[in-house]
Amino acid sequence: MERVMVDCAVTRSETGEVGGVLLTKQVCDIWDKIWAFQAKPDDLLIATYTKAGTTWTQEIVDMIQCDGDIEKCKRATTFDRQPFIEWVREKPHILGVEQAEAMPSPRTMKTHLAVHLVPPSFWEQNCKMIYVARNGKDNLVSYYHFYRMNQRMPEPGTWEEFFEKFITGKVLWGSWYDHVKGWWEAKDHHRILYLFYEDIKENPKREIQKIMQFLEKELEKDVLDKIIHYTQFEVMKSNPMANYTYVPPEIMDQTISPFMRKGIVGDWKNHFTVAQNERFDSEYRQKMAGTSLTFRMEL
Ligand code: A3P
Repeated sequence: MERVMVDCAVTRSETGEVGGVLLTKQVCDIWDKIWAFQAKPDDLLIATYTKAGTTWTQEIVDMIQCDGDIEKCKRATTFDRQPFIEWVREKPHILGVEQAEAMPSPRTMKTHLAVHLVPPSFWEQNCKMIYVARNGKDNLVSYYHFYRMNQRMPEPGTWEEFFEKFITGKVLWGSWYDHVKGWWEAKDHHRILYLFYEDIKENPKREIQKIMQFLEKELEKDVLDKIIHYTQFEVMKSNPMANYTYVPPEIMDQTISPFMRKGIVGDWKNHFTVAQNERFDSEYRQKMAGTSLTFRMEL
């Protein structure tokens, strides 16, 4: 597999804001293009807050769409199979929206955008969307390690500093609380399948079947078993088309923290101090008051 060479020093991204949400400067610079993106009625959008299990869901969806044909799923990296609509790749310079435009239908795309930043054509075209949410504590931990290893992310600071940034929404793609709540409300008015990382972990068969039903796809039992097998954490960790080892180490330094890091529920207990846990819970109570959305912090 070809690895993209990086011939310049990789610097951490500058940031800007769109609609009150922190994004990289590169994304802000092309915001008009992203907003004007033309969705089609048979597009599928996989939406998540970053580190909530996007890649996992992308693999499950692709395997369903490819009738469990593993060779077909290895045709390209996750990045190239399902364009990341708001992203700007450097060297080679590729815009997610342009990659999606060049793709034949039916297209599956990925986004981390907050619900109010999703290009309006997705709503106008009544596209199907799959949203995956992960409990905030594990999401925070996973994001911290991702910030450390991905040299395109802004500086994470110390664990304590990152903790504060996360709970005050001063991280890329903004407030986790607003993200999960916004999409939760939107699911009542649009064709959105809202799933939880913890549920997929607990019972992948049940959750994969929900996705199949949503995609109106019927598959034989042996195909379903194959999908369950190939989308397990350990198997995906060694899949070069899904584990992000195709990204040069100057950008994603997997010796700092692997992209496929632990893949478990409850790792926050290995990171949070008692005081941080209390602080998180008290912020959580305030920010999540009034929503029917609930999370499981452990299984
Ligand atoms: P951890 O850092 O907690 O291990 P995203 O794809 O949205 O960036 O999310 C990445 C997170 O999902 C990482 O979490 C990663 O290990 C986890 N993940 C990826 N594939 C997984 C799988 N098949 N099963 C469980 N977790 C998975």
